[in-house]
Amino acid sequence: MPVPVAVALAPLDFSGEPRFAWRGVMLDVARHFRPLPDLLRFVDLLAAHGLNVLQLHLTDDQGWRFEVRAYPRLAEVGGRRSESQLGHGPDSTLDGVPHEGSYTQHDLRELVAYAAARGIRVVPEVDVPGHAKAVLAAYPEFGVGDVEAVRARNLEPWTRYGINDEVLNVEESTLAFVFEVFDELCDVFDSDVVGFGGDEVRKQRWADDQRTQELMAERGVATEEELQAWFLAQVAGHLAARGRRVIGWDEMLEGSGGGVGAGAGAGGADAAASVLPADAVVASWRGPVGAELGARLGHDVVLCPDLWTYFDYRQSDAADEPIPVGTVLSLADVATFDPVPADAPTTLRERVVGVQANVWTEHLDSRERLDYAVFPRLGAFAEVAWNGGPLDRASFEARLPAYLAWLDEQGVDARPLDGPRPDQQRPGVPGAPRDRASRIAELEELTATLRRSS
Ligand code: ACM
Repeated sequence: MPVPVAVALAPLDFSGEPRFAWRGVMLDVARHFRPLPDLLRFVDLLAAHGLNVLQLHLTDDQGWRFEVRAYPRLAEVGGRRSESQLGHGPDSTLDGVPHEGSYTQHDLRELVAYAAARGIRVVPEVDVPGHAKAVLAAYPEFGVGDVEAVRARNLEPWTRYGINDEVLNVEESTLAFVFEVFDELCDVFDSDVVGFGGDEVRKQRWADDQRTQELMAERGVATEEELQAWFLAQVAGHLAARGRRVIGWDEMLEGSGGGVGAGAGAGGADAAASVLPADAVVASWRGPVGAELGARLGHDVVLCPDLWTYFDYRQSDAADEPIPVGTVLSLADVATFDPVPADAPTTLRERVVGVQANVWTEHLDSRERLDYAVFPRLGAFAEVAWNGGPLDRASFEARLPAYLAWLDEQGVDARPLDGPRPDQQRPGVPGAPRDRASRIAELEELTATLRRSS
């Protein structure tokens, strides 16, 4: 056990016992790699905010950042792309600048020990079976269909952002590969909870592929939603044998006793057991539906609804906000986050173990950009995580000047309250801002498969 290091807390309200056991931040190091010293600094800052979980999103379409000794091409090939999307939406371009990086197992052991000494558990995440383009650039044999066609579609990790059709195939050999990857992950990370992703898995390639359909028939799997749940359940079972539980995004409930494709049939969720282990944790990001269903199916729930906790979302609707994506999520909005409202179902109330802010880094390509997105919003989030929300606005605002001064002393390049300085702006780089009503409508649609069984 590392020797505990005394942590000086930021001047925020951390009186009393913490409201939530899981007070987390997810950092995406797949879209933009951050060198180890930046991660250690980030850990220091999380600890000073009374937080205790760093979920590290190590893999995605755009990059694979974890050294796997049995499969060296994952980091070597999957860890480098020739260029990156600049901006978002139809006017986005490509920057022509190579981006690369990966952590050695030695680096990550250092991170785990450093974080543990500061009271922070590092929860590693390897995202399967979707978000697979970096894997397939390295090992196209794990894709769906003809291997040469998979190779041709994935000459390198994705240089664009968004959701694409690539998924892993469901051969036994691919599962064996995935198990080996998670075995090495478990060797490095001692967290009892391990992230397996499960989000945004497009099903078309499985649906169109004869071999996948044969495997589904052999396994008694009726729909592609069930196949996703089956795949995730295999990974969860493998991890259980190593004494680990999984955390996955709320899509993991589709076809898992919770979705329309589930074996129990539409509307049968109350009767159906999840095919995932009962101790799997649901990270609920698409509104309350997944959280409530997960709780009813007996899972612990971490609340990270995008409208309040996605720190890549824009902080104002002013024209000078850099690369504006998502809905407006200002500091004041974060302070209104009410994780478990008074009218929340009792089952949910009993199952919520925590809250998490998610920092996706498609457009956060430097330490300064990361600071800009995270601070000072993390201050409001940290108080919600510690005390519950929403915050008393006047009281929080009274603490703000001291908090902002503290951030400055720490060398954090926070967003000024009145908007970005000129050097924090990205003039000419297009964004894709959303309004809240359209995002809420989209979330309703996205979670329809879960809601129909609620
Ligand atoms: C997610 O935002 N794809 C979990």
